[in-house]
Amino acid sequence: MTASGTFSNGLEASRLFDIQRLGAIVSKGTTVRPRSGNPQRRTAETPSGMLNTIGLQNIGVEALIAEVTPVWATWQTPVVVNIAGESVDEFRELASRLDGIPGVSGLELNISCPNVAVGGMLFGQDCKQAAAVTHAAVRATTLPVIVKLTPNVTDIVEVARAVVDEGADALCLINTLLGMAIDVRTRRPVLSTVFGGLSGPAIKPVALRAVYQVAGAVDVPIIGCGGMTSGEDAIEFILAGATAVQVGTATFTDPRAPLIVLEGIERYLTDAGIERLSELVGAARS
Ligand SMILES: Cc1cc2nc3c(=O)[nH]c(=O)nc-3n(C[C@H](O)[C@H](O)[C@H](O)COP(=O)(O)O)c2cc1C
Repeated sequence: MTASGTFSNGLEASRLFDIQRLGAIVSKGTTVRPRSGNPQRRTAETPSGMLNTIGLQNIGVEALIAEVTPVWATWQTPVVVNIAGESVDEFRELASRLDGIPGVSGLELNISCPNVAVGGMLFGQDCKQAAAVTHAAVRATTLPVIVKLTPNVTDIVEVARAVVDEGADALCLINTLLGMAIDVRTRRPVLSTVFGGLSGPAIKPVALRAVYQVAGAVDVPIIGCGGMTSGEDAIEFILAGATAVQVGTATFTDPRAPLIVLEGIERYLTDAGIERLSELVGAARS
């Protein structure tokens, strides 16, 4: 799969390579109203990764349904819509508006966004709020609901259990890690919002650890995400207990990165004489 926010809504990339070969496309984070995002500067390169503070720039759910979903409906590859709300009610509204829309095959809840109603704490940093969002979304839709967890917590297993108890069909691990950069010439933070999300190969060990821990604690499928650039990276996530993977930041160096990872997985399986990827799921755990 592609990782949310790194592949737009797939329309541009669909002109660059055969995206139908991918397992799924995950959309840009979609909100109730259109958003222009945070002021520049919104990205910074870091050793083995990048920082971003895009601020959920997107066209809003209404335009998405009117203009983008009809194109998705012509694709064979399923599209998962990543949704972000400022309150539990907004998550409920997004889940319900996207229910039954042709071209939409699933929802991914981005709970790494602030709950404005309770002082801006991230939904995903509090078990009760994470559970409340999941409860609302799951009951507002017939679509499968993936909950995407933030690594910026003390115990990710606790949050995973809380959302699975409320009916999450699958989990995606992980979103970006909170970080920052300072420009020594201006002596000011590089990003306009001071802090931003760290992604790319630098976070792969953290993501892998999270998948390994959570896979031992819950019974729903886990999608690994964080720093993947090759088939072997993906296999590591599968061995840790993931059943699928998402590729994000790597698409900024090559938009075909998700396909390169897929072909790398296929090559690994052929070389090892393994027929089904499922044979490897969690194999590093025993
Ligand atoms: C520029 C950028 C924008 C992103 N936007 C979103 C988003 O809208 N919703 C979301 O859930 N995750 C978003 N993410 C997080 C990625 O989907 C992914 O979880 C994270 O970057 C780790 O994977 P990677 O190292 O392969 O990029 C974004 C990441 C980047 C780099």
